[in-house]
Amino acid sequence: MITAKLQATALAHPNIAFIKYWGNHDDQLRLPLTGSLSMALDGLDTVTRVSFDPDLAADRFILNGMEQSGAALNRVVSFLDHVRRLAGLNRFAQVESTSNYPSGAGIASSAAAFAALALAASRAAGLELSEADLSRLARLGSGSACRSVPGGYAEWLPGSGDADSYAVQIAPPEHWDLVDLIVVVDRGEKAVSSSAGHKLAATSPLQALRIAGVPERLEQCRTAILKRDFERLAQVVELDSEWMHAVMRTSTPPLYYWTPVTEVVLWNVRAWRAQGHAVCATVDAGPNVHVIALAEDAAWAEAQLRALPGVLEVLKAKPGGGARIIDFSL
Ligand code: DP6
Repeated sequence: MITAKLQATALAHPNIAFIKYWGNHDDQLRLPLTGSLSMALDGLDTVTRVSFDPDLAADRFILNGMEQSGAALNRVVSFLDHVRRLAGLNRFAQVESTSNYPSGAGIASSAAAFAALALAASRAAGLELSEADLSRLARLGSGSACRSVPGGYAEWLPGSGDADSYAVQIAPPEHWDLVDLIVVVDRGEKAVSSSAGHKLAATSPLQALRIAGVPERLEQCRTAILKRDFERLAQVVELDSEWMHAVMRTSTPPLYYWTPVTEVVLWNVRAWRAQGHAVCATVDAGPNVHVIALAEDAAWAEAQLRALPGVLEVLKAKPGGGARIIDFSL
């Protein structure tokens, strides 16, 4: 009989979507209606340790030192069920996760959370998954997590089913030293989660139009990254963010994530670019703004952003790597 704990620890970064994921054709399996493309955020780390322990009578989930229950625990338990099924394992697990960035900073923490959990749990269970299979597994926990598995500049290939819906790295982090200045304008928990938002997307008459334009925008974004063409990137990143928020605002019921300060930041970023600075902006499912800048414009942009009324904090991230094991012991 095996009595030892099966344990592993993994680290993953969140990511910012340049071309957004918004809407599934299968919410259970998180099969998206379109591809999407992102940059992983270095220095923002989620570290997760999983131990499958024969002495446990139920799964436990401890987040930043606090024992979780309810919906947060259930989401982790369902995810662990996938891993147990894959590994043929019949044990409960203890999951301990910590992040070094504030949870109220409007950074989608589920991407880093499920990328780290997928890697730590699969290794702890004795599985050696390929990057694509790990990305597919992470996707079941949170769609955007599949892009945090390869890290760098990553594209989620939507595929047609579970087997071919995963993310690949299109360029490593060192390919282009962009900076993401995360402008915090509101620290509150968002009222409507991304998971709930994806389900509303189909109610917007604009969703079909948004979807029709995604292949072209993906192509533009991919090319801009590969050629390090900032102006092209700026156009397509801002356009794609506007499309997603247009869908959100025209859903039933409508989703309004922005505050007046969100608009102030966006307005200024457009003005600064018109003056010749390499900055552009994108907003995920929340009010905080991700200002993407060329490294040489980042310090200037950060100072400008900090001076805007209503800005609470500015976090800074360079392109980051993929999910990785930072300790493995059986
Ligand atoms: C607006 O991946 O958080 O950030 O699959 O339900 O966990 P779930 O949703 P999630 O959705 C991300 C939405 C987004 C855009 C993006 O990251 O592509």
